[in-house]
Amino acid sequence: MSRALDGQVAIVTGAGRGIGRAIAEALAREGAAVVLAARTRQQLAEVAAAVKSGGGRALAVPTDVTLDAAVDALVEQTVAELGRVDLLVTAAGVASFGPVAGSKPADWDAMLAVNLRAVMVTCRAVLPIMLHQRRGTILNVASVAAQRFIPGSAAYAATKAGVVVWSRVLREEVRAEGVRVGVIVPGAVDTSLWDTIPGGPDRSRMLRPEEVARAALLMASMPADASLEEITLLPSAGIL
Ligand SMILES: NC(=O)c1ccc[n+]([C@@H]2O[C@H](COP(=O)([O-])OP(=O)(O)OC[C@H]3O[C@@H](n4cnc5c(N)ncnc54)[C@H](OP(=O)(O)O)[C@@H]3O)[C@@H](O)[C@H]2O)c1
Repeated sequence: MSRALDGQVAIVTGAGRGIGRAIAEALAREGAAVVLAARTRQQLAEVAAAVKSGGGRALAVPTDVTLDAAVDALVEQTVAELGRVDLLVTAAGVASFGPVAGSKPADWDAMLAVNLRAVMVTCRAVLPIMLHQRRGTILNVASVAAQRFIPGSAAYAATKAGVVVWSRVLREEVRAEGVRVGVIVPGAVDTSLWDTIPGGPDRSRMLRPEEVARAALLMASMPADASLEEITLLPSAGIL
C-alpha cells in the first residue's frame, strides 16, 4: 500500500525528543526517510532505532543548529546519502522565561540563536536544493506565545513572532517555484521544554507531541498544488 510520503526525504531539527521526535516518527511512518538533527547523540540514536524498528529509514546527524557550518554539513550529508530534500521541519528550540525588567540581553542570545537565527540559516541551506527540485516543503515550529501575550515570555515570544514573519515573507519568495513554507503554531505541549520552567501550566492539560505531529503530517502530505500555510493547535482543555 502506498503511503503519503513514500520516496521523500525529510530533515527534522530538534528530532531527539519532544515535538521534533514525534514529527520525525510520524513522517517516517508515512514513508519518508528521516534525517534526525539535534545535539544529544544518545537521543538521536534512540529515535533512529525506533524508526528503524518500525520499518522506517533514519539517519542520525548530530548537529548544533547554531553553527552555520554544521547546518551546511547536515544538508550536504543528507543529499550525499539520500539524494534529495523534500521536507524540512525546524523543531529545534529552547525556552527561558522571566520578566523583562530582571533580564539580561545576554540571556536572550541563546534563544535568538536557536529559535530564530538557526531557523533562518537552516531554511536558507535547503533552499537551493528545493528550488532546483522545484519541489519542497518547509515547516517551521513557532508558538502561540507569538499570538497571545504572556508576561515573562517576551524574548521567547519575539523569537517565535520572528519565525512567523520570516516564514510568511519566504513563502511569497518561493511560492511560484514549487516550494511551500508552512508554520505550526502550537499551544502548550507536554515536553521536557517545561522541565526547567517553574510554575508552568498543568502538564496533563497540555497537548501531546503526537498531536502536533498530526498537524505537521497534514501539512506535509497536502497535494503538491495546495499549501496548508499555518496551523494553530491548542489544547481543547483551554491551557494556552
Ligand atoms: N513544548 C511546548 O509547549 C511548545 C509550544 C509551542 C512551541 N514549542 C516549540 O516547539 C519546538 C520543540 O520544542 P519541544 O517542546 O519539543 O522541546 P524539547 O523537548 O526540549 O526538544 C527540543 C529539541 O531541540 C533540540 N535543540 C535545542 N537546541 C539545539 C541546538 N542548538 N541545536 C540542535 N538542536 C537543538 C533539542 O536537542 P539537544 O538539546 O540535544 O540539542 C531537542 O531535540 C521548539 O521550537 C519550541 O519552542 C514548544
